[in-house]
Amino acid sequence: MKITVIGTGYVGLVSGTCLADVGNDVLCLDVDANKIRILNEGGIPIYEPGLEAMVRRNKEAGRLRFTTSVEEAVAHGTIQFIAVGTPPDEDGSADLQYVVAAARSIGRHMKDYKVIVDKSTVPVGTADRVKAAIADELKARGVNTDYSVVSNPEFLKEGAAVEDFMKPDRIVVGVEDARARELMHQLYAPFQRNHERLIVMDVRSAELTKYAANAMLATRISFMNELANLAEKLGADIELVRQGIGSDPRIGYHFLYPGCGYGGSCFPKDVQALVRTAREAGQGLKILQSVEDANEEQKYVLAKKIVARLGEDLSGKTIALWGLAFKPNTDDMREAPSRVLIGELFERGARIRAYDPVAAHEAQRIYGDEPRLAYARNPMDALEGADVLAIVTEWKEFRAPDFEAIKAKLKTPVIFDGRNLYEPAIPRAAGLEYFAIGRK
Ligand SMILES: NC(=O)c1ccc[n+]([C@@H]2O[C@H](COP(=O)([O-])OP(=O)(O)OC[C@H]3O[C@@H](n4cnc5c(N)ncnc54)[C@H](O)[C@@H]3O)[C@@H](O)[C@H]2O)c1
Repeated sequence: MKITVIGTGYVGLVSGTCLADVGNDVLCLDVDANKIRILNEGGIPIYEPGLEAMVRRNKEAGRLRFTTSVEEAVAHGTIQFIAVGTPPDEDGSADLQYVVAAARSIGRHMKDYKVIVDKSTVPVGTADRVKAAIADELKARGVNTDYSVVSNPEFLKEGAAVEDFMKPDRIVVGVEDARARELMHQLYAPFQRNHERLIVMDVRSAELTKYAANAMLATRISFMNELANLAEKLGADIELVRQGIGSDPRIGYHFLYPGCGYGGSCFPKDVQALVRTAREAGQGLKILQSVEDANEEQKYVLAKKIVARLGEDLSGKTIALWGLAFKPNTDDMREAPSRVLIGELFERGARIRAYDPVAAHEAQRIYGDEPRLAYARNPMDALEGADVLAIVTEWKEFRAPDFEAIKAKLKTPVIFDGRNLYEPAIPRAAGLEYFAIGRK
């Protein structure tokens, strides 16, 4: 099939590449000329495990191309994915300007039947706006071409995006006409050879499903974070509690890990956007508002622990920081808890020596030549001249460090672990003070 993907970011690039990998002819469009240049020169602009080799393979096979030409992109695909960003607006609602701009450019250039597929996470009712924007442009051109608008929210996880796209748990498709439904079946057939994964529904339900999924996952995290804070006060151990409840199949173990808050480009903005949508519809979402409030507070938990141990004035102190990305296996730092911690430490006069396996370049883009932030080449190098160690991302390579060596390097041998990576007795046996989240 001929497919166009509008927006070549984390979702667009992964979707386009995976669709090419099963034999489709894919053209990816982006307004960011630098991204397209990197892709055309054989690189990739983001870190995502397994993606670079897959992009190369499909480019070489001639099934995957990249362009900044809107006209060429609209002419190419019968299926036009919209995978542009939907960042939060000032009031927390989803900013749809990029989605509408993409829809308009389709309307401005289309000459034959198209299925426009909203893959971006968009509030309920957006498909209607996309439909109207295209109708507007067609009318301005005085042409009458058929098209369908489909909602197909994306559930991939950064860090495991290729795997998630190739072997999805489910593919949600909101569609209201038979022609588009048939094309969506055909498009996704290669990804569900083992059993049917397509869940077909009306457009509005599909749009809401994406928000409901992220809201539920965020709720589990905030619930556990609040319980962890309580466990600390009560002298209980949240890790034991986690296992005690996760073993109930009605609850399960997934997404029950307490930590220093969730971040990323999805949970924070999607929770806020759903709260906003609900408010506009005259239906408060009290639980979800609290999920968001609890998370905002939780991002300060490590800074509070550091201040409680070292005092308010951190001038002259260097904090070693393991992890910058909002979660492992990605370089994405959008809404990352590390950014709150870095801000809090700077405010109190500290310097930071950070190590992240892949996100240092993203931190450099965000912080520029900030003199108080140095980048280390490996975890132990981050401890050079540092007073204490703080951990904010659970990268695999942090899981089994040499605690004796950490103790020998730190001026004050203390670890503040925002991801509960260690059994407390182990760093303590090496002579380290160890503070985790919700643990004795
Ligand atoms: N990142 C994730 O893990 C994830 C997962 C599921 C869903 N989503 C949703 O998918 C959408 C995209 O997210 P992302 O993380 O890929 O964003 P991103 O910022 O990485 O990529 C968006 C891209 O769209 C481009 N763009 C903007 N306007 C354009 C236009 N008019 N024409 C062509 N290109 C344009 C931007 O330059 C950018 O490269 C969002 O709605 C997000 O909520 C993201």
